[in-house]
Amino acid sequence: MQLSQQYIQANKDRFLNELLEILRIPSISADPAYAGDVRKAAEWVKQNLETAGADHVRLEETAGHPIVYGEKLIDPAAPTVLVYGHYDVQPADPLHLWDSPPFEPVVKDGVIYGRGTCDDKGQFFMHVKAFEAMLKSGELKCNVKFMIEGEEEIGSDHLGLFVQANKELLQADVILISDTSIIANDIPSIDVGLRGLSYMEVKVQGPNKDLHSGVYGGAVANPVNILCQMIASLQDEFNRITIPGFYDDVQELSAADRAAMAQTPFDLDSYQKELGIAAVHGEAGYSTLERASIRPTLDVNGIWGGYTGEGAKTVLPSLAHAKISMRLVPNQSSAKITELFTQHFLSIAPKGVKVTVTPHHGGEAYVMPTDSVAYQAAAEAMETTFGKMPVPTRGGGSIPIVALFEKELGIKSVLMGFGLDSDDIHSPNEHYGLFNFYKGIETIPYFFENYYRLNQ
Ligand code: BES
Ligand code: MN
Ligand code: MN
Repeated sequence: MQLSQQYIQANKDRFLNELLEILRIPSISADPAYAGDVRKAAEWVKQNLETAGADHVRLEETAGHPIVYGEKLIDPAAPTVLVYGHYDVQPADPLHLWDSPPFEPVVKDGVIYGRGTCDDKGQFFMHVKAFEAMLKSGELKCNVKFMIEGEEEIGSDHLGLFVQANKELLQADVILISDTSIIANDIPSIDVGLRGLSYMEVKVQGPNKDLHSGVYGGAVANPVNILCQMIASLQDEFNRITIPGFYDDVQELSAADRAAMAQTPFDLDSYQKELGIAAVHGEAGYSTLERASIRPTLDVNGIWGGYTGEGAKTVLPSLAHAKISMRLVPNQSSAKITELFTQHFLSIAPKGVKVTVTPHHGGEAYVMPTDSVAYQAAAEAMETTFGKMPVPTRGGGSIPIVALFEKELGIKSVLMGFGLDSDDIHSPNEHYGLFNFYKGIETIPYFFENYYRLNQ
């Protein structure tokens, strides 16, 4: 890998400048107003992949945002690696909390600031540049396919359909993804799990219009009060979820696995300090790391209703709304949990209100065995560039397409991410370290080399 490493060193500045280019395109998949920019980002990725040396690079149209596909097939006998990533980003709001504009990336003290720097433009782009380095140095030994999508942040629905319809095209031995975190820059790790998701929206309707809260208050159900009571009742005093059947299929970790997890480096003090909290909070009987990875959760993501403007307006609102997500663990079914939630939430509604439940996207959890060739290839690659073996960790986030890849294509994914949990993905001032960006580019060629070797 000597030559690719030299190529990377010689082209470092250009790689960064190219990344800054795509970071300037506001490819927000959730907001239809940005559909043109999402397409612009896809075109940019296509261009860059072509220049890097990929063949048959094209936009695959979907009913939503396009998928960028490209490949380099060098030897039918060699293993094939499918690289997946996403060029879409989360909305940038609240804008006033950013120290610099989200789509005008800046590099400050070795850190790139901007929406998508870590999630996932800065990370998928490492693969394009590592590929370029391997190809231009004549060191690429595996076949490579790229599939970079534009709807990950809104649930990957159209990618799911594309995968089902293109099983032949996407045939590969492994899927390689950088869209997760390491523990710290001096503690490399690899996520061997992702949580699933059920995302719901609920509406509580009371009186047919907003009322005077003095004239009617006390006699008519207040939908905001009711919604708060209903949501509060979804968790008990042990912070366990009260939806009947919710835990039925939960896969419990063995005592040995829990003991291993307890060895994962974790500093509670700095965790609390960084988040500005005086104490952690969660399901009784589980550690913070467990609560945030191997246990299912229920969280309100947003709640609104009534008067929220300046000053005080006395009003008894007609409507209340909330968006509620449940993170799921292996063996729970997103469809089943969605159904259990819906039935339960409707059943606890008092007579004075009308409740509606609407499911948004969902997805299944995922686990990667550490005794697989692909995990070994990634672990040894990180060992080479970080100077120590990575720790296997269970991640708390979700990438629903990963379980679908396994189900539809029968292919496992390696989650070799390089971000940090403190990179503020989805938040104001999202950032990504230059250390992490370059470390990723340097590590990826070793993955390919190891994966090729371990398959011989
Ligand atoms: N890259 C994240 C997922 C992630 C982040 C996994 C950090 C592990 C560690 C991904 O882009 C994401 O944000 N996924 C969404 C789910 C999606 C359906 C909107 C999530 O986890 O909320
Ligand atoms: Mn992501
Ligand atoms: Mn994301």
